[in-house]
Amino acid sequence: MDYQWYPGHMTKAKRAMQEDIRLIDLIIELVDARMPLSSRNPDIDEMGKNKARLVLLNKADLADPQANREWCAYFLERGVQALEINAKSGKGFKEIGTKVQEACREKIERDRRRGIQNRPVRAMVAGIPNVGKSTFINSFAGKACTKTGNKPGVTKGKQWIRLHKGLELLDTPGILWPKFEDQSVGMKMALIGSMNDDILAREELAAQLIGFLLDAYPGLLTRRYGAEEGDPAGMLERIGEVRKCYKKGGEVDFEKAAALLLEDFRSGRIGRVSLERPEGKKDGQ
Ligand code: G4P
Repeated sequence: MDYQWYPGHMTKAKRAMQEDIRLIDLIIELVDARMPLSSRNPDIDEMGKNKARLVLLNKADLADPQANREWCAYFLERGVQALEINAKSGKGFKEIGTKVQEACREKIERDRRRGIQNRPVRAMVAGIPNVGKSTFINSFAGKACTKTGNKPGVTKGKQWIRLHKGLELLDTPGILWPKFEDQSVGMKMALIGSMNDDILAREELAAQLIGFLLDAYPGLLTRRYGAEEGDPAGMLERIGEVRKCYKKGGEVDFEKAAALLLEDFRSGRIGRVSLERPEGKKDGQ
């Protein structure tokens, strides 16, 4: 996955989202639990300002459990319902219904005052590429749904997935463009594997990851690789030695060691790590 977003792409994505937003009550915003702020586009706040909002911290299985709890509290403190989920396994799905009700409380109250009862909440899923939108829609909708055809007053071609408990989901997600406000966002995006990393950048990325882990998760690299922590500069070499990443001549193959470390991190084999913590808490601690 390579992020190549040009102004034309952004305008198109924005227009498509704005069109869909008119049809819905609730935006289900997917973010990556390992970096909830860097993996969201704050423009959605403006675009969806009159809509209810639910934030799903997806890939929570890969993130630090303590950080997941802190992030849920962070969003709640700001008046936004949030929930950690694993779109792949379905963990956390059971609570979505209640959270949707909470997030749409005002709409439901309004309906009731007008004598409208049990009108389903219409929702759309939105998020930046690779955050898990398709996985979520497919697995959340699962078999417990029926696709509804076009509805009067609804743009032709839109498909709604009718879920139980009064929720209808637009079957195509809104795609938000990533917001590279500073270098660290690009770096984190590359670390989780959402950007192409060429061979040279891979070694640099591995070095960044090692620096971060030694500081925020001391002991983790030793537990995983049995390599002694200490001098960060020699860490990749020690991981290469332990994992027998050697070139033909017998010297450590740094490229291979870097690829191995990054893959272990991205798949969660290294352990559950969060790259961001809410403001006021040190990253990763
Ligand atoms: P998108 O529509 O937002 O672009 O994302 P998509 O669903 O394609 O998911 C991107 C990748 O993230 C997929 O991996 C998917 O399996 C993985 N993923 C989605 N949700 C979760 C989750 O909660 N936990 C974990 N661990 N992974 C998740 P992939 O490698 O591209 O595909 P695959 O090999 O898993 O099929």
